[in-house]
Amino acid sequence: MTSKKFKKNILCIGAGYVGGPTMTIIANKCPDYKVTVVDISKERIDAWNSDKLPIFEPGLLERVLSVRGKNLFFSTEIDLGINEADIIFVSVNTPTKMFGEGAGKAVDLQFIEQTARRIKNNSKTNKIVVEKSTLPVRAAEALATILHSGDNSVEFEILSNPEFMAEGTGVSDMENPDRILIGSRDTVSGLAARDILMDIYLHWVPKERLITTNLWSSELSKLVANAVLAQRISSINTIASLCEATEADVTEVSRAIGMDSRIGSKFLNAGPGFGGSCFRKDILNLVYLCEYYQLNEVAAFWEQVVSINDYQMERYVKRILQAMFNTLVGKKMAVFGFAFKPDTGDTRDAPAIYICKRLLEEKACLKITDPYALDNARNDLQSIEGKKEFIEDPYKAVEGVHAIALITEWSSYKKLDYRKIFEKMEKPAFIFDGRNCLDHQALYKIGFNVYPVGKPELSHL
Ligand code: NAD
Ligand code: UGA
Repeated sequence: MTSKKFKKNILCIGAGYVGGPTMTIIANKCPDYKVTVVDISKERIDAWNSDKLPIFEPGLLERVLSVRGKNLFFSTEIDLGINEADIIFVSVNTPTKMFGEGAGKAVDLQFIEQTARRIKNNSKTNKIVVEKSTLPVRAAEALATILHSGDNSVEFEILSNPEFMAEGTGVSDMENPDRILIGSRDTVSGLAARDILMDIYLHWVPKERLITTNLWSSELSKLVANAVLAQRISSINTIASLCEATEADVTEVSRAIGMDSRIGSKFLNAGPGFGGSCFRKDILNLVYLCEYYQLNEVAAFWEQVVSINDYQMERYVKRILQAMFNTLVGKKMAVFGFAFKPDTGDTRDAPAIYICKRLLEEKACLKITDPYALDNARNDLQSIEGKKEFIEDPYKAVEGVHAIALITEWSSYKKLDYRKIFEKMEKPAFIFDGRNCLDHQALYKIGFNVYPVGKPELSHL
C-alpha cells in the first residue's frame, strides 16, 4: 500500500555500503518517494539511525541528516516493509562461497535466496524487485522462480540495476553517475517496470545516461566492469615489476600510455595490489561462470588478473625483506594506512591484511596507523600471532621504527613532516611507498632509503 503523501514506497533490503548510501541519495533527490532501508542487523540499523553512521563515506552524514525521518527511514521491520513496498531493491551481500560446490569462486547466494523467500511470503500486492546486489548472470531467472513458486497470485517483475559507485567517492558517483544501467524483460510488464525505475533516476540523472538492456546483459556488465577495471591494475602492476628490473619508471609509462585517448589515464596507478570487497569476488564469479559453461581458456585469462594481484602483494613484501638485509626479526615497522583505499574505513580484502600477515610471519613488530580503519584492522588481525599495535597518531607510530610501509594513500600522509619522522626512526631508515604518493627525492635528501613501486630505489646504502 502506498501512503497518501508519497508517490511510491521504495524498500531496500540490506543496509550496507551500497544499500545505505544509494537509498540516501534517492531519498534526497526524490522527496515524493518514501524510502525505507531494512536489515537483519539491529546494530547496523541503530547506527544508521544515530549520528555515527556504520560506514564512513565523505558527504554521506549530511545527506542522511537532511532526509532521515522525512522520507528516509531505517528499520528492522523487514516483513512490514515488504508488505508496504511498491519497489524493492535487494542489496544484501553476495560473498564468495567458501564451502561445497564452487568453493572459493562461485557466489554464495544464500542471502539472496533468503531475501527472495521473505519477499514472496510477505507480499500481498504486485511488486517490482530490483537486483542491486552484484549477481551471477541469469540470477534473475532463479529469483523469479522462487518468487512465483507455490500458490501465490502476486506478480513480481524483476529488474537488474547494478551499482557502479566506488567507496570513498560514493556520494559523488551516485549524484553524478557515468551511467545508470537497467536490465529488464522485453515484455509489456517488463518494460513498464523498467520505466517506473527510470522515473526515479530521471529526478536527477540526464536521460542519455540511462542505459537499458536485457536482464542478462545488465547482470553480466556489472561483473565485466569490475573485471576490466581490475585487469588494468594488474596489467600496470606487471609492468611495475619490469620497471624495477630495468630502471624504467612506471609512473612515466602510465602517463605516456594513458594520454592515448584509446587507452585513457584512469586505473593505471601501480600499487601493492587492488583490494576491496568486490574486485576479487566478482572476477572469481566470472571465472566460475566461464568454467560452468566450459570456457576454460576464458576462465584462465580472467583468473590471471587475480593471480597477478596476489603476486604483486607478495612482491611488495619481498622488496621490504630484501632491502632490509633479508631479516625482519624484531624490527619495528610503521604501517601507514590499512583501509583498502583512502576515504573509507572499509578493510575488506585490503592488501594491508595480506601484507601485515606476511610481515608478522617474518616476525616484524607492527605499529599500524590509519585515520578511519583501525577498528576493522584490529578485527582483521585478531587471530594472527605477532606483535602489533594500533596507533592513531602517525607521529607516535613511527617512534623507534626501522621502516615505514605506506599501503594506503591517505592525503594526510602527504602532508606529514618527514624530517621530524626521520628523526624519530632507527637508522638506516627505510620507506616503502606502496602508492608512489610521496615526494621521493625530498625523502631521499632527508636521509631515507626510498623504495617506490615500479621505479628505481633511492638508497644511501
Ligand atoms: P554489506 O555487507 O556492507 O551489506 C549487506 C547487508 O545486507 C548487511 O548489512 C547484512 O546484514 C544485510 N543482509 C544480509 N542478508 C540479509 C537478509 N536476508 N535480510 C536483510 N538484510 C540482510 O555489502 P555491500 O558492500 O553493501 O554490498 C552489497 C552488494 O552490492 C554486493 O552484491 C556487492 O557486490 C555489491 N556492490 C558493492 C559495492 C561496494 O562498494 N561495497 C559497490 C557496488 C556493488
Ligand atoms: C570498485 C569499482 O571501481 C566500482 O565501480 C564498483 O561499483 C565497486 O568496485 C564494487 O562493485 O564494489 P571500489 O572497490 O570501491 O570500487 O574502489 P576502487 O576505486 O575501484 O579501488 C579498488 C582497489 O583498486 C583499491 O584497493 C585501489 O587502491 C586499487 N587501485 C585503483 C589501484 O591499485 N590502482 C588504480 O589505478 C586504481
